[in-house]
Amino acid sequence: MLLCFEDEKELATRLARELGRPLGVIARHRFPDGELRLVLPKPLPADIIVLRGLQHQPNDRLVELLIAAPAARGWGVRHLMLVVPYLAYMRQDMEFTPGEAVSQRHIAALLSTQFDRVVTVDPHLHRIASLDEVMPKGKGVALSAAASLGRFIAAQVPGAVLVGPDEESGQWVAEAARAAKLAHAVGRKVRFGDTQVQLAFPELEVSGRAVVLLDDMASTGRTLIGAAREALERGAASVDVAVTHALFNGDALPALREAGVRHVWSSNAVPHESNAVCVAELLATALRRK
Ligand code: R5P
Repeated sequence: MLLCFEDEKELATRLARELGRPLGVIARHRFPDGELRLVLPKPLPADIIVLRGLQHQPNDRLVELLIAAPAARGWGVRHLMLVVPYLAYMRQDMEFTPGEAVSQRHIAALLSTQFDRVVTVDPHLHRIASLDEVMPKGKGVALSAAASLGRFIAAQVPGAVLVGPDEESGQWVAEAARAAKLAHAVGRKVRFGDTQVQLAFPELEVSGRAVVLLDDMASTGRTLIGAAREALERGAASVDVAVTHALFNGDALPALREAGVRHVWSSNAVPHESNAVCVAELLATALRRK
C-alpha cells in the first residue's frame, strides 16, 4: 500500500497507479496546542510506502513521520519505505559558523532509523557526493528530475540556453542540457542572508537569446530573481525559470514576475501551480527496483 497525506494526494495517486498499489490516506488533525493526531488506515499490509515531502513546515512533517513510521511497525508492517520527493535540511551541509549543527547529517540519519529505504528527488547534495555519506550505505536513493525538465524546456523553448544561477546548480544544469541537447552555463552566487544574494552571471553571450534558468529549488526566489535581472540586462530575449522543487515562499512568485520572468515551470515533487513535469514514473521505476 502507498500511504500519503491529503495535500500530496495528486502525486500519490499517480504513483500508486504506476505501481499498481492501493492508496491509503493518513488523516491529520492539529490540536489547539500544535500537537498532531494521525489516523492511519487499518489493517495495514506488511509492505508499505509512505509518501511525504518535507516542504513548507518541514518540522511538522518530520514529526508526522516520526509518529507514523513506528505506529505502522507496531501494527505489523515489516517493510517500510519513505518517498520524500523534497528532502529538507540538505542545504545545511557544513558548520558555516562555529557551533552550527550540520543538520543535513542529523536529519538524514534520523530518517534512516525509521525507514528501510529513503527515496528522494534532487536532494541538495553539494558538499557531499551521495546520500551514502549521511545514511547507511544503500539506504538513500537520490533520483533526478533534471533530464525530464531539460526535455520539457527544449520542447517549450527550442534552442534555449540553460543557465544555472550558481556552482551548486551545475550538476542539474549539465544533466538537463545533456538530455535536451541544449547549451548551458553556470554563474556564481554570494549569499549575505536569507533574502540577500549577489549573482555573477556566466561569461556567456545571451543577447537576443532565450534563457531558461534552472535550479534544484526556489525558496525566496531571490537567487533566480538576481539571475533573471542579469540575463535581461545583458539583452536576453526572454527569461523563463524551471526548478525541481517549487517552494516559492512568501512573495517569490510575484517578485519573479516583476523581475521580468515569463514562464515558471517545476516538477510536481512539490505540489504547486507551476507544476509541469511529473515525477511519478521516475519514482515508480526506482521503487520497482527495491
Ligand atoms: C542553493 O544553492 C539552492 O540551489 C538554491 O539556489 C537556493 O536555495 C534558492 O534559494 P532562494 O530561492 O531563497 O534564493
